[in-house]
Amino acid sequence: MQPKFLQPNNNINMMKSNCFVLVIFIFLALSGAFAFTGVFNCKDGAGIENPRWGNDSTNAQTLTIDVKGPSPIQAVGNYKVYFYSTGKEANTTEAYYVFMHTPDWVNGYASNMFTANGGSTWVGANLFSLTLIYSPKKFPPSGTIITIGATVHYDCTLGSDLVCKYCPMRIYTKAP
Ligand SMILES: *[C@@H]1O[C@H](CO)[C@@H](O)[C@H](O)[C@H]1NC(C)=O
Ligand SMILES: *[C@@H]1O[C@H](CO)[C@@H](O)[C@H](O)[C@H]1NC(C)=O
Repeated sequence: MQPKFLQPNNNINMMKSNCFVLVIFIFLALSGAFAFTGVFNCKDGAGIENPRWGNDSTNAQTLTIDVKGPSPIQAVGNYKVYFYSTGKEANTTEAYYVFMHTPDWVNGYASNMFTANGGSTWVGANLFSLTLIYSPKKFPPSGTIITIGATVHYDCTLGSDLVCKYCPMRIYTKAP
């Protein structure tokens, strides 16, 4: 039996478990920040548009969408690429790619920018171009019509919950 401090891997194992704890902590912190209620509104021009496929400087494949609203979009959630669907609801369990399940800040916003029971002191861009990296592994053949769905959140105020207006929206384009 070796004493623990002589095991060469011990530090690495400790680092791994610390990272693990940190990841869980961040996950809880983020999910807590977004346990918000909201006001559905798709009639004031909020939404997504102009999807375009590209590559970033490391040649990773990217999707850019423009998000806009009556005021700057502050968070985006339920952002997925999936099969062509114009119906009222689509089962997106087998999405081609999921960018975000739960809402996350975009456009420079963060929880610590909100005054108590008030809005954000930061004002982002309107319209804002959101570029994220994706993996095309599950994508259908190039040229297939697909759906890009996302929910935009705006006019958020932070009290005991984060309350925003939101609009879930789909647009259609061709797979790259
Ligand atoms: C992005 O890079 C991939 C892999 O290198 C390439 O096949 C594809 O044509 C590029 N796409 C664009 C839009 O430039
Ligand atoms: C959605 O699709 C998945 C995978 O095909 C299936 O297991 C699930 O039952 C479906 N859910 C609904 C509500 O139809």
